[in-house]
Amino acid sequence: MQDRNYILNFRVGLGDESGIYYEWQRNWGVDISTPKKLEAAIARGEQRYADEWAAGDEQQLQYVVKASETAGFGDYPALLNDHNAKVVAEAVRRIPGDLTILDIGAGPGNTTLAIYKALDNKDKQRVHFILFDPSAKALEKAKTHLNGEGVSYETYAESDLSIPGYVPAGSVDIATGVASIHHHPKIPFTTYAGVLKWKGIFTSADWHNSMWEHPNRVYGMLKRMGHTDEELADFIIRYPNALESTRPIRNIYEEIANKDIENFWLGYAQIRTEESVSEGKNSIWMLEGHVPPQIYVEAMEDTGLSTNDPELLDIMQSGLRKYRCYENPHRILLGSGLLYLIGGRKI
Ligand SMILES: C[S@@+](CC[C@H](N)C(=O)[O-])C[C@H]1O[C@@H](n2cnc3c(N)ncnc32)[C@H](O)[C@@H]1O
Repeated sequence: MQDRNYILNFRVGLGDESGIYYEWQRNWGVDISTPKKLEAAIARGEQRYADEWAAGDEQQLQYVVKASETAGFGDYPALLNDHNAKVVAEAVRRIPGDLTILDIGAGPGNTTLAIYKALDNKDKQRVHFILFDPSAKALEKAKTHLNGEGVSYETYAESDLSIPGYVPAGSVDIATGVASIHHHPKIPFTTYAGVLKWKGIFTSADWHNSMWEHPNRVYGMLKRMGHTDEELADFIIRYPNALESTRPIRNIYEEIANKDIENFWLGYAQIRTEESVSEGKNSIWMLEGHVPPQIYVEAMEDTGLSTNDPELLDIMQSGLRKYRCYENPHRILLGSGLLYLIGGRKI
């Protein structure tokens, strides 16, 4: 890990460009011009995320919650789980018999627990959960939460890339991930679609923005975070493209989302400074896999996860009645494209 020079020393750990959406890595100077080079870049990104998350425990997610609150947002991780749980519970209502829900990136169990609590009482006995997360420690915590509630579940301390080794193809009714599937340079939607039954439902509630599309945007953010010219010079040496200009932002929601994510990282930097914490194995790294929701939609459609299936839209609209859902992707926040719930149906 050290020889890859992961952590440039800024007010937050930067990670490195390997975690960024693969098609954007070109902008960061990564050569992905041949299939072999692209494959190597994706493998580097997968290793980066394993290094970031596999050793962490429940505290790692707590830092996300705290940064979110320090940024003035409130508990966005809980908000994502609330929206997701409502849609999944509505999908369960419409699927007869016993069913299996796959929780991708389950962490300390909040996603499974939120779904379980949102289920109608008569549905609680019909549902079995499968939790995947590379962090064994986070899953240990999940077990204590879920045992207390009487949830039927099994856990695998593995990356979601390993799902096909444990879960038979076509066996899952609902696959879901909250704030988790962006931990890839290329999200394995094919894997998610592969384990779903025909007509099975996929949901993702996640963070979205285009901050990481180009180093020029991140350079601006680092400046606004108060880094000195000398510190910023390190970034330029590492990513000379940071001095180039980049394409304009697509729309106002994306613009606000980028401002929001900047505030999130300011919040994270603040808790680091104030508490003088060395998060160690629980640190989270800035250069990450967030993308605008359209990129999820295109990738999902490519793998046979339809985003405009009428039954799926009805499930989303009924599940999110309280929040008024008009379309898929469903934007969760007023005026900002930072958080979306996106549904898919295997067709
Ligand atoms: C922000 S937490 C969200 C946890 C939980 N879904 C929730 O909403 O509370 C992100 C989780 O994704 C997990 N993760 C990272 N890379 C992963 C991978 N390749 N496969 C599955 N989970 C992964 C992390 O270990 C972490 O627990």
